[in-house]
Amino acid sequence: MNRRTAIHTIATATAALASRDLVAQAAAPAVHKLPPLGYDFDALEPVIDAQTMQIHHDKHHAAYVAKLNEALTQAPDLAGKSAEDLLKHLDEIPEAIRTAVRNNGGGHANHTHFWQVLKKGSGGPQGALLKAIEKNFGSFAKWQEAFSAAAMKQFGSGWGWLVLRAGKLTIETTANQDTPLSTGGVPILGVDVWEHAYYLKYQNRRADYLKAIQDVINWEYVGTLHSQSAK
Ligand SMILES: [Fe+2]
Repeated sequence: MNRRTAIHTIATATAALASRDLVAQAAAPAVHKLPPLGYDFDALEPVIDAQTMQIHHDKHHAAYVAKLNEALTQAPDLAGKSAEDLLKHLDEIPEAIRTAVRNNGGGHANHTHFWQVLKKGSGGPQGALLKAIEKNFGSFAKWQEAFSAAAMKQFGSGWGWLVLRAGKLTIETTANQDTPLSTGGVPILGVDVWEHAYYLKYQNRRADYLKAIQDVINWEYVGTLHSQSAK
């Protein structure tokens, strides 16, 4: 093989590989993307340690996004739908990928929500949200107690939620990555009680994690979700 032939061969092979990559990309569009955390990994210290945040966001959440995209390659018609839309209509998802979409779409939507409801020094609920909490639970302190108790009782992995359902605030829990969206509720505050959310710092002490996380709830953002959903 002379030099010119060798260059031609390499160029052809490179083009073929590039073309194959393009075909692969076309067949597997990465429709869902890992959103940025929005703050530094150590922003919630000491309540949630930086290492937990980094692994939680960069590894766990990223894996849900990747697996959701992988599942959706089997249903190109669903490519334009948001994770929330998919979860609201799970019965419309082809059966072959329904569980994968439920778990990984739920993981993606739940964590995207979770990063946004956390912020240091945000105080407590205000305005209409505070009034609604007092109306439904007696007081904010009683709500805190009831929320922690419910999240504590969630057996195994799951989430504790403050949900707007049929115009009323409710405390709910879901297993795994299930979301109140799939049963007609609007989650306005979700707290991750998977061990990956707290084990490095709190080990088996979920109650301590639930008590501490109350100090880093972004009530301003939760209030915005409430006012948007209560309309
Ligand atoms: Fe998580």
